[in-house]
Amino acid sequence: MANAEFGMVGLGTMGRNFLLNVAENGFAAVGFDLSADKRDLLEQEGAGMPVTAASDLATLAASLERPRRIMMLVPAGPVVDSVIGDLLPHLEPGDVVIDGGNSHFPDTARREAFLKEHGIAFLGVGVSGGEEGARRGPSIMIGGDPAVYENVSPILEAVSAKVNGEPCAAHVGRGSAGHFVKMVHNGIEYAMMQLIAEAYDLLKRVGGPTVSEGSSFGSPHVSKGSSQKTNTEIADIFAEWNRGRLNSFLVEITATVLRKTDAETGNSLVDMILDTAGQKGTGKWTSQAAMDLGIPIPAIDAAVTMRQISAQKPFREELSSQFPPIGNWPIDNCQLEEKEVETALYTSFIAAYAQGFSLLRAASDEMGFEFDMIEIAKIWRGGCIIRAAMLEDIRAAFSEEPGLENMIASPRFQSSLSTGREDLRRVVAAGAVAGIPTMAFAATMNYLTALATERLPANLIQAQRDFFGAHTYQRTDREGTFHTDDWDM
Ligand code: 6PG
Repeated sequence: MANAEFGMVGLGTMGRNFLLNVAENGFAAVGFDLSADKRDLLEQEGAGMPVTAASDLATLAASLERPRRIMMLVPAGPVVDSVIGDLLPHLEPGDVVIDGGNSHFPDTARREAFLKEHGIAFLGVGVSGGEEGARRGPSIMIGGDPAVYENVSPILEAVSAKVNGEPCAAHVGRGSAGHFVKMVHNGIEYAMMQLIAEAYDLLKRVGGPTVSEGSSFGSPHVSKGSSQKTNTEIADIFAEWNRGRLNSFLVEITATVLRKTDAETGNSLVDMILDTAGQKGTGKWTSQAAMDLGIPIPAIDAAVTMRQISAQKPFREELSSQFPPIGNWPIDNCQLEEKEVETALYTSFIAAYAQGFSLLRAASDEMGFEFDMIEIAKIWRGGCIIRAAMLEDIRAAFSEEPGLENMIASPRFQSSLSTGREDLRRVVAAGAVAGIPTMAFAATMNYLTALATERLPANLIQAQRDFFGAHTYQRTDREGTFHTDDWDM
């Protein structure tokens, strides 16, 4: 009977959980997966809900009311194209296909154009929040024709996370806008995760004893041994930070992760995990898009770079014996207070969002997405991985000044950034003295410092370019383009 209101292709954890969420919200749902086990699991977990499993795509299509709404939650890449190819014979003009995976935005534009030739509508939708989010309420970033979105908005808004009763689902722009916004979300996610990891490393290695007032940086009296904090102590610190202005999903889960004991060894589980981080590509795509648009996002680039360096484990092991830790620097002089690390992290989080939003601004202008930053900040407040209390401030900053090019110029962040950059410098300096890599903190510090530097040494770069390539230069004292023939005379 063709009465299901929403279909799902791909019943992995994300697809199954999303579909159960749809059904739990009262929409009749049907799901398909090639795996019979996954179909069975859907029916078991969905017992008592209006959800069924279809054993093939023809049955899925036949079960859906017209126009059909079918979401795919399958791995990004060629699988999406193959599912579209398999679905197509079962679709009719007017049907809506939704890609809810982390697809690369140029693929989304291509797929929309392809399906349009067949009269099929296509929405590229970013879904964030992991398994739990999919089941209980994700953040949903919808891209495509707004009229098509009207057709699915009651379902997507119902299943999304809510903050103060407002759904964390919105149409963010045409074409590939949804996947572009999700990509930038993930870029910010990479930066925040790397910054948290660096904060953890600093606390662990030069975290120093808790001092109630003043800065301990530079103090010659703190002994090296006292700087070693346990994972449980660091978990307590993150939990405390999470109760303050750093309140966020990623800080919260960091505290939880650091408390976990390995059942096999009895050690802290995080200590038993190999230090090589994988990546599926969204962070790298964010860096690539930013490079193409000429927008600096160094903390995100640093996070991608650090995942790459982490993956070079055998080479790092080899090199660490060639270049053992620097021993003759005054390590005892680089103890950090928790508060300094907290401030550096908060400052860097602001800068990470600023980099992401400035990329969205450029993409909006250059690629015609017409992003509404207030709306994007609003739907990132709940459900997604980068949800954080500070998104309320970000939303307010864009409400006060909708044309804001870069959040760091907003008066709302003026005082936090002014004081925060001092602690950020201290944290980076401590890392440098102790030989602890702080790629993301350092990138953030340099981003903030460089953007606030009136005269950079790019004059010399202009001169060099003119010397070897006659690329010309501008002058400080008058308008025009100049070239010097006789640089070496
Ligand atoms: C989310 C996450 C999710 C996924 C990342 C992981 O918003 O729910 O970002 O999409 O966990 O894609 O990406 P990496 O494997 O690249 O870290």
